[in-house]
Amino acid sequence: MSLPTPYIAHLTEDDYEHVYEPAEDSFILLDALELDADLLTSKKPTICVEIGSGSGIASTFLSNLLGTDNSLIISTDINVHACQATIRTGEANNTTLNPILCNLLSPIQNRLERQIDILLFNPPYVPTDLDELIQTQIGKDIGGSWAGGNDGMIVTNIVLDRLPDLLSTNGIMYLVTVIQNKPLQIIKNMESKGLICKEIIKRRAGRELLSVLRISRNTI
Ligand SMILES: C[S@@+](CC[C@H](N)C(=O)[O-])C[C@H]1O[C@@H](n2cnc3c(N)ncnc32)[C@H](O)[C@@H]1O
Repeated sequence: MSLPTPYIAHLTEDDYEHVYEPAEDSFILLDALELDADLLTSKKPTICVEIGSGSGIASTFLSNLLGTDNSLIISTDINVHACQATIRTGEANNTTLNPILCNLLSPIQNRLERQIDILLFNPPYVPTDLDELIQTQIGKDIGGSWAGGNDGMIVTNIVLDRLPDLLSTNGIMYLVTVIQNKPLQIIKNMESKGLICKEIIKRRAGRELLSVLRISRNTI
């Protein structure tokens, strides 16, 4: 199955002053979804969530893959400009997205307990010092797109620690990582929580060695 990359030409240089411009890490996430397209449609997911939607490219791709008749696509971002861009990207691609301006899943987390069928996260994964992480999370602007603190994993680990409480019985998470995040350690960590975790794509993009981990409750 070959799915079109969402249209993003409505986003301007000015938008990209504040919103993460889709790059190789965004595209590897789309490629992972495309690779699993038959699996994803066969599972008939109803509750789909993207944390940190940025431009909205991945939520739009997922929405176009699944259709909005049976699947609800919720996205979150701490950056108001990203939430606005996500709405515009949905509209430009004839789909409706539902961005929420919040930290990770904070206002909806309890309501989503064991309810998420598909969870996407291309997190701020770049290793930085703790101070940069804290300042960019407080600033809620473009810097929050990459600053990830120690091992680039501080924000990601908050989500991974809660993952067993978030995924539905058939739930699947797609997580973008770089080698500095120690993907093999993430796999072991997820297995220790009783989840199944596999690297499904790995690719070098300039200086970054990117991969997408697929994490699920059940064997796929
Ligand atoms: C690497 S960018 C990915 C953007 C988009 N998903 C993509 O793949 O192109 C990370 C995104 O996560 C958002 N983000 C960072 N910290 C967050 C937090 N605590 N809660 C929600 N979103 C966050 C950033 O604002 C940014 O839009």
